[in-house]
Amino acid sequence: MGASDRPIRLAVIVGSVRRERLAPHVVSWFTGRLAQRDDMAADVVDLLDTPLPGSLDGDAPEVAAYRRRIGAADAYVLVVPEYNRSFPGVLKTAIDCCTVEWQAKPVGFVSYGLSRAGGLRAVEHLRQVMAELHAVGVRDSVCFPGVLDHFDDDGGFPRDEAGAALAAKAMLDQLAWWALSLREAKARRQYV
Ligand SMILES: Cc1cc2nc3c(=O)[nH]c(=O)nc-3n(C[C@H](O)[C@H](O)[C@H](O)COP(=O)(O)O)c2cc1C
Repeated sequence: MGASDRPIRLAVIVGSVRRERLAPHVVSWFTGRLAQRDDMAADVVDLLDTPLPGSLDGDAPEVAAYRRRIGAADAYVLVVPEYNRSFPGVLKTAIDCCTVEWQAKPVGFVSYGLSRAGGLRAVEHLRQVMAELHAVGVRDSVCFPGVLDHFDDDGGFPRDEAGAALAAKAMLDQLAWWALSLREAKARRQYV
């Protein structure tokens, strides 16, 4: 397998560190979907296990290790709950800790929230931030409005597995197209 056809290294960044967070349910379902694909290899970057200093000290060893991990990825999926019509501050710190690592790479979004907005307001804010970092946001995202309604009576998630799987496939297919296309383009010429 050459460099051009090795699986896409996909960093799945978990954007909530709250005690009793719902994020693990969403991430566990999503990584299950990823396991069905042979074109992607996932690295789950859980910000709960990735302590980052608030001061954005680039020389701190934990920041350097985190930057290497982000830099090694070909593409990203941000798993993001909506907090106060935007995304959690911990995710902003995680984004701001890196610069060139994000460049010329695609990013997709899995969002959720208690309201009917389903985290889409967080996603729209993230699109602006990621564009500043020269990342390419893919059009389709996965979203779970009224997230508690997506748990079935036994606590299974998501209740509408088929619908969620379709949304994930649309987003991941777009992400794969961009990741492969940008990989080829970067092999030919350096990004500006
Ligand atoms: C500080 C805070 C602000 C929130 N603001 C919103 C909001 O604006 N819109 C929304 O739909 N849900 C909002 N919620 C609900 C969260 O999206 C919901 O609790 C979700 O489960 C949070 O993800 P987590 O459990 O993985 O941390 C908020 C929750 C918190 C803790």
